[in-house]
Amino acid sequence: MTPDMGQTRHDYRFRPEPRWDDGRFVPPVPRPIKIDIASWDRIDWIRYMLAASRNPIHGQTNLSIADFDQVARGLGRTFFTPSHPDTLRETFVTKADALRLSGIRNAILKPVLRNGLLTSEGDRWRHDRRALAPVFTPRNVNGFAQGMARTTQAQLDRLMGDDRVAFDQVCVDLTYQVLSDVLFSGELEGGRQASLRDIDRFLSSMGRPDPFDLTAIPAWVPRLTRLGKMGIVKRLRRNIGQLGEARRDRIEAGETVPDDLLTLMLTATDGEAMSEALLVDQLITFIAAGHETTSRALTWLFYLLSQDDAARARLEAEADGLDTDGPAQDWPDALPYTGSCIDEAMRLYPPAPFLSRELNRDETLGGKALPEGTIVFGNLWTVHRHRKLWEHPDAFMPDRFLPGARDAIDRFQYLPFGLGPRVCIGSRFAKMEAVILTALIARRYRLHLEGDHPWPLARVTVRTETPLTMRVERRK
Ligand code: HEM
Repeated sequence: MTPDMGQTRHDYRFRPEPRWDDGRFVPPVPRPIKIDIASWDRIDWIRYMLAASRNPIHGQTNLSIADFDQVARGLGRTFFTPSHPDTLRETFVTKADALRLSGIRNAILKPVLRNGLLTSEGDRWRHDRRALAPVFTPRNVNGFAQGMARTTQAQLDRLMGDDRVAFDQVCVDLTYQVLSDVLFSGELEGGRQASLRDIDRFLSSMGRPDPFDLTAIPAWVPRLTRLGKMGIVKRLRRNIGQLGEARRDRIEAGETVPDDLLTLMLTATDGEAMSEALLVDQLITFIAAGHETTSRALTWLFYLLSQDDAARARLEAEADGLDTDGPAQDWPDALPYTGSCIDEAMRLYPPAPFLSRELNRDETLGGKALPEGTIVFGNLWTVHRHRKLWEHPDAFMPDRFLPGARDAIDRFQYLPFGLGPRVCIGSRFAKMEAVILTALIARRYRLHLEGDHPWPLARVTVRTETPLTMRVERRK
C-alpha cells in the first residue's frame, strides 16, 4: 500500500482514524503537510508555523518525510534538517565539533538544569561526561536491575489498583519511583510523593517552549510562562543538595551507605569532588532526562499492545515464561520479543524526538554549504518514519527489531537515544528499566483502551495529548 503522502495546507486539524493495513496496526498520526513553495503566501506560512509550534509533529512535511536533508531559510536564519543516515552521521558524529547546543533548547532547559550534562558545553561538559561515564557502565547498570524489579513489584498494585487508570500517569509515577530508588534509595527529604509532585510540576514547566524562545527576544526578558514555577525548582534543588551533602559526610565518616547511584556518583567520579551545585545539577538532569522519557516509551508501548492482540499475546507468553526469581539483569536476554516491542514503540514514538543544535562555523553537511549560526535540527520523528528508510513506516511491526532482522536497519536510521558524543548516557539503564517494567506489568495486567485513541503531542518528550485511559484486567 502506498503511504499517505500529504494533506492540503488547511487540514491541520484533520485526525486520521487508526487502521489495519494487511494485518499491521497503524496508529493515528498527523499526515505530512504538503508544502507548495510556489503558491504558499505569507498567511499559509504563518498558519504552518503556528501549527508546528503548537505541536512540532504537525510540522512534518511531504519533503521531510520523503526527501533527505532539507535546507530552509526564514526569520533571518538558515535551518538544516539532516535525515539521510550518512548525513546524520556526518553531522552529529564526524563533524560534531562544528555544533553547539541550540539557543532555543537552552532557553527551555538551562534555567532548570543549569550545568547538568544535558545543557553544559565545552570543557565543562567534556570533563563531566568523562567523569560520569563510570556510573553507567554495564556492570553498574546490571547492579541496578534487581532494585528496578523490586520497586516495580512493590508499587504496581497500588498504581494499578483501580478498574480504570490514566496509564500515562501510572507510567510517570512508576518510572519516578524506580528512578528515585535507584538514584537516592527513596531518601529524598519531604517523602517520595511530595518530591514526585514537585518534579512533575517542574517537568511540565520545562516542557513547553515559551513563545518568546522561538523569537529573537534576548534571554534576559522575563519568560512569563516560567515565572512562579521557580519556587518548586528551588525546593527541589535544596532537598537534593541536602541529601547529597549528608551522603558525602556519611561516606567520609566511613559509615555504611545505600548502594545507589548517588553513592556511585560520589565515589566513582574520577575521585574528584564534585561541587554541591554541580552534583545537584547532574541529579536533577538525570531525573529530567531519565524519568519522563522512559515513561513515554512504556505508555506508547502498552497503547500499541492494547490494539494488536497477536503482539500482546506473544509478549505476555514471553513474560509469563520468565523466571522472576532469577537475577533481573538477565531478563533482557530472556525477553527478545519484549525488547523488540519496546524498540518498535520508540521508533514510532521516539520519547525525545528532537536533537537541536547550531553551527558554530561555516560547514558543509550532506553536500550543502551552510553558514555559521544555521539551526541544525535532528528530527527523529521523521527519520523513524521516513518513506525511503522503512517498509510500512507508520505501522507497528515489532518483528523488524528481532535479532537477525534488525541487522537490516542502518545504525544511523534508528536513533531513539541520539548519536555522537552527546548520545544518551543512560541508554543502557533505560533499556534495562523498560524491559523489566514491561515484563512485570504484562505478567500481572492486561490493558484495554477506553475512549479515544491517543494523539501524539511533542513537547520535550512525545506524550499523549490527553490522558490515556485504560481498563485494567488482572491476569494473575
Ligand atoms: C527511553 C528512555 C530515554 C530516551 C529515549 C533518551 C533519549 C535521549 C536522547 C535522544 C539524548 C540526546 C539528546 C541530544 O543529543 O540533544 C539523551 C541525552 C541524555 N540522556 Fe537520555 N534518554 C532516555 C533515558 C535516560 C536515562 C534513564 C537517563 C539517566 C538516568 C538519561 C540521561 C541522559 C543525559 C544525562 C543526556 C545528556 C547527555 C550529554 O549531552 O552528554 N536518559 N537522551
